[in-house]
Amino acid sequence: MNQKNATFKKTIIMSLLLNRNKFGDVANTGKTLSKEEANLLLKEWVLNDKLRLHMLQVSHLMKCWAAEKEGLGEEGQWRWEMAGLLHDADWDQWPGEHCKKIIEELERRNVDPEIIHAIASHGPNHFGVEPETRMDKMLYAFDELSGLIHAYSLMRPNGYEGMELKGVKKRLKEKSFAANVSREEIADACSLAVVELETLIPFIIEHQTGVSLTELQ
Ligand SMILES: [Fe+2]
Repeated sequence: MNQKNATFKKTIIMSLLLNRNKFGDVANTGKTLSKEEANLLLKEWVLNDKLRLHMLQVSHLMKCWAAEKEGLGEEGQWRWEMAGLLHDADWDQWPGEHCKKIIEELERRNVDPEIIHAIASHGPNHFGVEPETRMDKMLYAFDELSGLIHAYSLMRPNGYEGMELKGVKKRLKEKSFAANVSREEIADACSLAVVELETLIPFIIEHQTGVSLTELQ
């Protein structure tokens, strides 16, 4: 990113505070979009393949974590997956309204307030909303780390194959690698979620490897 873009982005980020802590309507608890509706929204709003893939990766991680670590059934898994799938839906076309626009859309569609809160709190430093639930905290934890691990896979000859915890930790220490990934946010998220990097990194390597854009077709 050149200096002009960096300044532009900084200006955008500074204006992303949501200035509220209540999202959605409790009367809509349990209401979700269908998978088809969520995929359609993603395809309509996110035109950039890299960002689409990121959202699919994070949504898959959320679903697998909900199933394997939180012991949630299909309904609960979908709530987590949907939060992951749509968390950056407005970033591609409306970066200056990032988070605000998707939140308002999901409120308009009467979506469960917990899903909307998870999206609203996935970047507490940017949006000013603290992660509270397990879903909130894990979305925050997966977001940046998933991106760094994907960037690492792209520079390895065999992608995810044979990727190890120590290699990822080494990349984390290299500030110049995937420099836009905030190490501070990763550390903050792990601490909030009470999850060690030693658990999170192998989980991401294992589950992110097979995710591809074909899932949206
Ligand atoms: Fe993201």
